[in-house]
Amino acid sequence: MSQRTEPNVPTDVLSELDSYRALEAKQQPKWPDADAVRAAQTELSAQPPLVFAGEVDRLRDRLAAAARGEAFLLQGGDCAETFDGATADKIRDRVKTLLQMAVVLTYGASMPVIKVGRMAGQFAKPRSSDNETRDGVTLPAYRGDLVNGYDFTPESRAADPARLVRGYHVSASTLNLIRAFTQGGFADLRQVHAWNQGFVSNSAYNRYESLAAEIDRALRFMAACGVDDAALTQTEFYVSHEALLLDYERPLARIDSRTGQAYGTSGHMLWVGERTRDIDGAHVEFLSKLRNPIGVKLGPTATTDDALRLLDALDPEREPGRITFITRMGAEKIRDTLPALLAGVRDAGARPLWVTDPMHGNGITTSTGYKTRRFEDVMNELRGFFEAHREAGTFPGGIHVELTGDDVTECLGGSENIDELGLATRYESVCDPRLNHSQSLELAYQVAEELKTAR
Ligand code: PEP
Ligand code: CO
Repeated sequence: MSQRTEPNVPTDVLSELDSYRALEAKQQPKWPDADAVRAAQTELSAQPPLVFAGEVDRLRDRLAAAARGEAFLLQGGDCAETFDGATADKIRDRVKTLLQMAVVLTYGASMPVIKVGRMAGQFAKPRSSDNETRDGVTLPAYRGDLVNGYDFTPESRAADPARLVRGYHVSASTLNLIRAFTQGGFADLRQVHAWNQGFVSNSAYNRYESLAAEIDRALRFMAACGVDDAALTQTEFYVSHEALLLDYERPLARIDSRTGQAYGTSGHMLWVGERTRDIDGAHVEFLSKLRNPIGVKLGPTATTDDALRLLDALDPEREPGRITFITRMGAEKIRDTLPALLAGVRDAGARPLWVTDPMHGNGITTSTGYKTRRFEDVMNELRGFFEAHREAGTFPGGIHVELTGDDVTECLGGSENIDELGLATRYESVCDPRLNHSQSLELAYQVAEELKTAR
């Protein structure tokens, strides 16, 4: 895509992009120095786009297929990426985990799986409180590496606009490595399958061996038929994040010279969180002006009316693939709340993509102070998601999970049975607890079984 620089763009398109400024923007930091914010934004607006309009349009097409029931979305990654965590090893292991999950899900669903990382931009977090108090000391809450530091000191917790530019560069290097891994041979289906066989050969996981053996037979069959093309060695991989920090997103919005339309170039898919999806708020207004596929988180209090108003604001044309509703009800509530929401939206004639986030409605805090989630609650919400869609006759189009490729101990349970004491062994998340590598694969095998029986 050739990108016009802003001075050549018709001013009406540009002023439309700024309409959000008149509205309330929740969850924004209090920058100490307005000049430094302007300087960072000027620098960001001069940087090349991270993603291109053609890729964004292709992802919208892929998501449209999922909304029609012909593909399945796998979206996952850290709750909050960190600048220090953007190392080659950690990025590789997260990509590897997603690729391993995708193979299993592809087999289970007998459908293409659209792979979208919560990666290369997931650096800003909404917080329930502006401040955090420890031992009588109160400091600003950590809002993600794009805003301030995690260390609990006044210097680190001060919002620093230079982080906006650093976040862009860390995203660029992360995305570069993702592109290299997924196009350069690392994603070879046979290799990914071999990793999965290694996983199920561990005695803790041999309940998944029969599914792995079926996949093995399918791959041998394909090989025997002589299938050997780029589809085996390369894969499409997209990136996404919550478009929370408008001082970062706005300078990275660009006008595509082919169409004159605006794209967010910070990531292929952008989503609006549960706390910032107010219909009259700045986030919905800003995202309504971009062509990207947009995700919207919907929690247990979301009504059919909320969903329809969000569709009217963000997708008045009801364009296939434009809107993904990411429901995060909680295992306790999903069977009560989701079926009516699905039916209400269906009856209004809309056909968004429905995806489950089985993480954010299932947070608990242990007596020892760890924020965690039980693997069984996550699985229970997933099953509730499939049940609700069966009930409403709609398509359960994907999963959105917080995960890492590392062997962390942040979520309870799974076949290795991480218990409350075990959480202390390797708890590294700076925000919400993530499924570790094995828990992520287990989840994929269980969802694949669910998808297989649904067909
Ligand atoms: C998240 O996805 O990390 C998040 C904050 O989710 P939600 O907006 O659904 O609470
Ligand atoms: Co989270």
